[in-house]
Amino acid sequence: PVEDRLDDLIGRMTLPEKVGQMLQLDARGDLGDIVSTKLAGSILHTSPERMVEAIALAERTRLGIPLLTADDCIHGHSFWPGATIFPTQLAMAATWDPELVERAARATADEVSATGIHWTFSPVLCITRDLRWGRVGETFGEDPHLIGELGAAMVRGYQGDGLTDPTAVLACAKHFAGYSETQGGRDASEADLSRRKLTSWFLPPFERAVQEGCRTFMLGYQAIDGVPVTANAWLLDEVLKGEWGFTGTLVTDWDNVGRMVWEQKVCADDVEAATVAVRAGNDLVMTTPAFFHAAQEAVARGLLDEAHVDAAVRRVLRIKLELGLFENPRPPDAARQGLVIGSADHAALNLDVARRSLVLLTNDGTLPYAADDAGATARTVAVLGPNADDPQANLGDWAGASGQVDWMPDGHPRDTVETVLDGFRAVVPPGWTVTHARGAEIETLVPDPDGPLFPDGQPRPPVSAAAPVDPDQLAEAVATARDADLAVVVLGDTMALTGEGCSTATLELQGGQVALLDAVVATGTPVVVVLLHAKPCVVPPSALRAAAVIEAVSPGMRGGRALAELVLGHVEPAGRLAVSIPRHVGQQPTYYNQVRGQHGHRYADLTQEPQFVFGEGLGYTTVEWSEPGIEQDELAPTDTLVAEVTLTNTGSRPAHEVVQAYVTDVVTSVTWAAKELKAFRRVTVPAGESVRVRLDVPAAACSIVDAAGRRVVEPGEFRLLVGRSSRDTDLHGVTFTITPGGVV
Ligand code: IFM
Repeated sequence: PVEDRLDDLIGRMTLPEKVGQMLQLDARGDLGDIVSTKLAGSILHTSPERMVEAIALAERTRLGIPLLTADDCIHGHSFWPGATIFPTQLAMAATWDPELVERAARATADEVSATGIHWTFSPVLCITRDLRWGRVGETFGEDPHLIGELGAAMVRGYQGDGLTDPTAVLACAKHFAGYSETQGGRDASEADLSRRKLTSWFLPPFERAVQEGCRTFMLGYQAIDGVPVTANAWLLDEVLKGEWGFTGTLVTDWDNVGRMVWEQKVCADDVEAATVAVRAGNDLVMTTPAFFHAAQEAVARGLLDEAHVDAAVRRVLRIKLELGLFENPRPPDAARQGLVIGSADHAALNLDVARRSLVLLTNDGTLPYAADDAGATARTVAVLGPNADDPQANLGDWAGASGQVDWMPDGHPRDTVETVLDGFRAVVPPGWTVTHARGAEIETLVPDPDGPLFPDGQPRPPVSAAAPVDPDQLAEAVATARDADLAVVVLGDTMALTGEGCSTATLELQGGQVALLDAVVATGTPVVVVLLHAKPCVVPPSALRAAAVIEAVSPGMRGGRALAELVLGHVEPAGRLAVSIPRHVGQQPTYYNQVRGQHGHRYADLTQEPQFVFGEGLGYTTVEWSEPGIEQDELAPTDTLVAEVTLTNTGSRPAHEVVQAYVTDVVTSVTWAAKELKAFRRVTVPAGESVRVRLDVPAAACSIVDAAGRRVVEPGEFRLLVGRSSRDTDLHGVTFTITPGGVV
């Protein structure tokens, strides 16, 4: 009946109505033009009032086809004052906990759907390669398996038990594909990717999303080997819709179709661009208003077959039917908003996610701080640094930075965000003192009226090379540190140094931050360094000499409390890095699963090893790992390897561990990654106890992509490596064989 209904509807539509359904326009513009004249099938980025107006206008069009509304609610409801903002994807990835990530996405869907938004542009399934790229914080890190598992969890959370459930929202796997393979870390640069490389590492998380039932995909901006993704019929038609059987809807990124004319210059005009985009298999065209006339013109001139338009419209309307929008256009629901937005349940979940996401990188034993003292001795904790009390540093990108949208000029209310300073004030024992000084600035902005405009319409100002150190500001912080028993120095970046179109050439802490840290460490007061930023930076030498370093990324609204609890030992460290952290920007890229075959493992002037590796993170206790055991050491390609390892907590505090299983194919027909993550499991080991952990690795997952581009299991010997990080010295191996091989 769904297809019959679609036949009937499409049969009654005029060409302008069909092309209109293919348009997704920025609803900050003139709604009459967008909905009543251009007949747009979908809108994005709008205030609740205007959304109600747009939905009503759509109902009054000739066929009354309901409007599909969308926004970037990628770690919580970005543009709704007081909505729950979770840690960013990169921070959530450090939990290595699909179940928790699914619950966060479910809570987000609950809040987002109550505000009349049907579709969130999330999850991001790009693989982090070069940390200079501005959008690293939006990713789940550098490993395709971890990205695939967490992405699948998010899809489950958003789409819930079925799209007709009014609390479900459409998920969107983006940016398909290869967008993160930048040059020099620069956003949306041409991706220098062979099909084999794309198939090997960039496509698997997206295929996993299709298997999980993700109903929409967004295309990247960039070209691969000369072909913009928007024009890549092989990727869209052959791979996504053909091989993987995707039946959902494809949306371009922002003005991808126009970009083929004005930026990439592969099309002479809008008519050619519309023709190319529709023929390649795009369904919804984001924010290219010219597409409305251009596509009609292309059909009129015989360049574009109307059947191609019909196929795209069918996929757009099918999604609307699946959401049940024809029966219920799902406008904002004020009553439900009151119940779910920023609810106590969501706040509790948010705190849990933040606690699990913090990664303890170093610790000389100072942490947990004074945990045995239970407040018996009054102490002074100095919370210092430019990000110690900055709500936006906790929230990260796509989280309603003040002024980003006109209906939310002040961003999220200050009292809904717990900064690190707030966190310490709330959790220190009675009688303790918390002091604060900012100490340094991160950047000096030079407003540039000609700077590029990005989707939020804000100019992105360039950032000066270095901010001068203010001697008085520095001296105040040093004095505050000297008078304290513990100094917590919170450093990182700002919104001007990260995000779309905002990559950095360097990876150092900017402005006066290193000077501040050097001076505070020199006081002799024990120092805990907290890195609060969209993406990791090079950890400066003085931080490595400090008592402890915590990588917090952007831990969300409750991140400050979670950090204070961690420092004071109210909770155990649990996070593990989802990206490796280099020693120097020149080492980029430092992802762990690099292909074998190079001379030595060092530059002439520096080791090749990153400072901290993928999977790394400490706890407050000691855990012994047994050698891994396997149930059988000879497998067929359809078998599953069952591995076990026993963890014994020999300390006095509970341990949160992540058991990680990597596989090495000993000899491959083409060069391949030295090791790849194939399974993981988060476990808690109570003090003094042992826990046996089982991991399943399907033999089919031990595949490589051969010279012909086929995914195959090559028969022969493999090593299973099990341990607490990707570092060779943390892993224990066991050998198994797979025979015969075969295409998977
Ligand atoms: O969803 C985003 C995408 O990630 C980057 N460009 C703009 C889109 C819509 O806001």
